Amino acid sequence: MAERAESLGSEGFVGVFDSGVGGISVLQHLVRELPAEDFRFFGDSAHAPYGGKTPEEVYQLSEDIASRMIDDGAKALVIACNTATSAAATQLRTHYPELPIVGVEPALKPAVLAPGAGKVLVMATEVTLALDKFQRLAERWAEGVGIETVACTGLVEFVERGELEGPHIAALLEGLVGRYRGEVDRVVLGCTHYPFVRAQIGKVLGDVRFFDGGAGTARQLRRLLAQDGLLRDADHKGSVTFSSSIDTPEERALYQRLFDTPC
Ligand code: DGL
Repeated sequence: MAERAESLGSEGFVGVFDSGVGGISVLQHLVRELPAEDFRFFGDSAHAPYGGKTPEEVYQLSEDIASRMIDDGAKALVIACNTATSAAATQLRTHYPELPIVGVEPALKPAVLAPGAGKVLVMATEVTLALDKFQRLAERWAEGVGIETVACTGLVEFVERGELEGPHIAALLEGLVGRYRGEVDRVVLGCTHYPFVRAQIGKVLGDVRFFDGGAGTARQLRRLLAQDGLLRDADHKGSVTFSSSIDTPEERALYQRLFDTPC
């Protein structure tokens, strides 16, 4: 495998995956940061949401996707999912040491460091909030800052359906985070699906500033590709392709629509 990865050099594609459509919010940053790269996005919408599964199940699903992408010629992987990063990134890096693997994590550090008088609210999946990775992040950055966390059960399903606004999602969000209105002024979107409903979350919470891991993930991918000599020549015209474990024209149209929805 190591030899094959080396022989691919900069020509290979960057494989990007998520439990479903959420990772497209990260993909938007990747394409902006690295327009010369070829990206292949896979959304495991048939198995979404990952957030209520066991860490072992999330790891197995992530491993299956990663091994397929590597067999197909990926030169690097982006786990565009906070949940899969928490449950699988360390093991995947051990299993595939020959290629860069970039994950995404809740942007707690920039939120805590940003000016603000209120508390910081972290919205994420159950698995992300429960696993060590987030616990360590919170221990490191939360000292002296009030942090609230909410496992946003049910929210991913709206984004998977492409239902980004309307009374039903407004009611769900009111129930999930309405009680923090006026108490928080910085909000960490710790799941890659949530940037697509940022405006709806803002309607419930009022005047808050949002933070997500997309831009940091894109910068980290650039750093690792450069370090390993894997960046495409700047004059190459990059491309983006989508596939999903729900292989229907409707699903493909939803993926394209979300990619065209700046978030
Ligand atoms: N988009 C994912 C994340 O960033 C997971 C959502 C889910 O499938 O529960 O955590």
